[in-house]
Amino acid sequence: MTQDTKTQDRVVIFDTTLRDGEQSPGATMTHAEKLEIAGLLDDMGVDIIEAGFPIASEGDFNAVSEIAKNAETSVICGLARAQIGDIDRCWEAVKHAKQPRIHTFIGTSPLHRAIPNLTRDEMAERIEQTVTHARNLCDNVQWSPMDATRTELDYLYRVVEIAIKAGATTINIPDTVGYTAPRESADLIRKLIENVPGADEIIFATHCHNDLGMATANSLAAVEAGARQIECTINGLGERAGNTALEEVVMALKVRNDIMPFQTGIDSTKIMNISRRVAAVSGFPVQFNKAIVGKNAFAHESGIHQDGMLKNAETFEIMRPEDVGLSETNLVMGKHSGRAALRDKLEQLGFEVGDNQLKDVFVRFKALADRKKEIFDDDLIALMRTSSDPEDERLKIEKLAVRCGTEGPQVADLVMEIDGERHMTTQTGDGPVDATFNAVKALFPHEAKLQLYQVHAVTEGTDAQATVSVRMEEAGRIVTGQSADTDTVVASAKAYVHALNRLLVRREKGGKDKAEISYKDVS
Ligand code: KIV
Ligand code: ZN
Repeated sequence: MTQDTKTQDRVVIFDTTLRDGEQSPGATMTHAEKLEIAGLLDDMGVDIIEAGFPIASEGDFNAVSEIAKNAETSVICGLARAQIGDIDRCWEAVKHAKQPRIHTFIGTSPLHRAIPNLTRDEMAERIEQTVTHARNLCDNVQWSPMDATRTELDYLYRVVEIAIKAGATTINIPDTVGYTAPRESADLIRKLIENVPGADEIIFATHCHNDLGMATANSLAAVEAGARQIECTINGLGERAGNTALEEVVMALKVRNDIMPFQTGIDSTKIMNISRRVAAVSGFPVQFNKAIVGKNAFAHESGIHQDGMLKNAETFEIMRPEDVGLSETNLVMGKHSGRAALRDKLEQLGFEVGDNQLKDVFVRFKALADRKKEIFDDDLIALMRTSSDPEDERLKIEKLAVRCGTEGPQVADLVMEIDGERHMTTQTGDGPVDATFNAVKALFPHEAKLQLYQVHAVTEGTDAQATVSVRMEEAGRIVTGQSADTDTVVASAKAYVHALNRLLVRREKGGKDKAEISYKDVS
């Protein structure tokens, strides 16, 4: 891949949704969800999938191993700190892939060097040893100097040269804290190519975080300067403000190929489906005005630009909705639609459902259709987002009645099933949602703290469903829950219980939680 990529101006897409993306607090995905997302990435033509951080937990190790076994065409990569044990564990997980890659990293900036308290020389030695070790295990090794954009240039040249000599085949230059700007991002890649011996034998990658909203621009600038691998995530998921969004770089290179003549191997028509699935499984909804995949990204079709659009779509469109896999009609089904039609529609939306899941979704679809005249794509997506594995549902809302209005306190009567047993309570609160959450807590006492409570209307109209997302934290474990219902308080109760069910699964899994492993600990 190395030489071809350089001469043909092909840019390699490295997706890290399952590693860097999953690191966003609360974005934890289940094993099955990770396998599903990896399958979709492979299918859409992603060149390299960073499937996880195998040393971080048993769960990560198992997910990376299974993704490696299943991958058809993508290279499967795992992350490892600059430690022999991490690298061995990573290799154990990725070695099953047809094309495995080990990605090892260490923080090289003065701030990051101070954490393990290594001198420049000691760190250089560690890089030499660990990259050599990785290369002895695997032909395909990526090395990253974390916080490269705040590393002294002379030291960066030195450590990049050492990593190349030790056998790294890709050198990734991370802007870990989203600090760089496009011109600087390009200059850095250009300088590395010009000044580091051996630079012409490897691929440079760019890995940008979005703290100043410049991640995509920085990645593209790096490509123009000679980088040939872009690291990105679906929907720009990732720590803090996230990462470069895959859909943005792919579409920018496609639409502005006149000024950025680079190709990717991505089938852009698969973008919308995977974006929706990642939003659903991560619990991070896509902001309405997000480029390419936001709900409003093509909304001019029905807005004030309609007249111009009808005369010539190009008046206001720089790409067609179909280019990213957006179906033309959003109105889907009503109460007479059958099970086969539902399965068909779900498949078009990117959801593969087994018979049991279809049965469950169909019952809830019918219940919704009884309450709501028109069911839109977004209603179905919300319905899917809230369907969880029945085995993981130890807590279930059976009945909820809430009295609210101008005279407080508001009162919630709740019946809930806990491990198959029925319990009921009546609690008050400051508003209907507070009363409901107090009732859940009275029946299932816990110490988890509510960190986020968010409500969105799925579609328009007063009969629209509300989707509710909650995020909770208990002893460093962060979980999210989602639910949708035409009754906002019911959706809130179900989202809260969904998060608690996920917390119970996390508690049961035991072992090392990701929060317990220090990302920067290399000693
Ligand atoms: O942002 C970063 O520096 C990273 C590294 C592990 C590559 O994600
Ligand atoms: Zn990162």
